[in-house]
Order: sequence, then structure tokens, then C-alpha cells
Amino acid sequence: MGASELRLCRPAQTRSVAPIRRALRAFLEALAFDGPALDDITTAAGEALANAAEHAYAQDTTRRRRDVELLARFERGELRVEVSDGGSFIERSPLPGRGFGLRIIRAIAYQIQIETSHGTCVRMLFPGPLSKS
Ligand SMILES: Nc1ncnc2c1ncn2[C@@H]1O[C@H](COP(=O)(O)OP(=O)(O)OP(=O)(O)O)[C@@H](O)[C@H]1O
Ligand SMILES: [Mg+2]
Repeated sequence: MGASELRLCRPAQTRSVAPIRRALRAFLEALAFDGPALDDITTAAGEALANAAEHAYAQDTTRRRRDVELLARFERGELRVEVSDGGSFIERSPLPGRGFGLRIIRAIAYQIQIETSHGTCVRMLFPGPLSKS
């Protein structure tokens, strides 16, 4: 079977998070993901989307478009989800009571990479629906 792909681009705002998460969930259901995996993957992606909405353009005073893009690609039994934006990654110690999003993603995805050279891209890997791990 070939690769299946979902790609969505929306304004990087909180109100974009739920609709993108819903579309991702429907995509995963069509690929036979079910049970806890559906909740886990949409939760992890939701944290990355929320980060793009809150942090990506927080220090950006220009008027250019502020988008966030989700790419989900299922190929050879593995799901890759990338959440990318055109802002700047903010390196800092977590604020009090914060700093859960990336920890949640690390706990759920079996691999996570964060690229910050051109904007921010959070790349997460998950096993496919038939994996028993
Ligand atoms: N897309 C992004 N653009 C810029 N900075 C980011 C982005 N994603 C994460 N960060 C930085 O990484 C930090 C840690 O993110 P994390 O999601 O773990 O915590 P948080 O968003 O600060 O709080 P919480 O997720 O608990 O509400 C953020 O505070 C921010 O400095
Ligand atoms: Mg967060």
C-alpha cells in the first residue's frame, strides 16, 4: 500500500487547534487507528499545535501571515506527524506550572525531533495501528 497523507495549514491561533485535531483524528480513523492510540496521537499533536498558537509568533512584530501547518504521513507501518510554523523557537526554562506540552509529546511519541533552523518543526513518530508495542 502506498503512503497516505494529510496536510493542513491554518492561522496559528488557538481556535485553529480543535478543528485540526478533529481532522487528524478522522484521518487516523480512516487508517484503522483506534482506542487509546487515537487519543494519544491527537493529544500529542494538539500540544504541538497549541505551542505554535501561543509561542511561535509571540515575539514577532511584523504583519506577515502567521500560519501553522500539520502534516501527517502514514507509510510502511509508521505514522509521522509534523507541526511546523514560521516563528522562532523560544529557549527558556519553563514558566511556573507550565512546560507540560513537550513532556506529554515525549511520553507519547516514540521519537520526537524539534528543528528550529527555519521556524519550528516538531516531528513526532508513532507506531501504526497494527503494531503491538
Ligand atoms: N512552536 C513553538 N515556537 C516557539 N517556542 C516554542 C514552540 N513550542 C515550544 N516552544 C518553547 O518551548 C517551551 C516549552 O513548551 P511546552 O509546551 O513544554 O510548555 P508551555 O507551552 O510553556 O506550557 P504548557 O504546554 O504546559 O501549557 C515553551 O514555553 C516555549 O518557550
Ligand atoms: Mg505547551
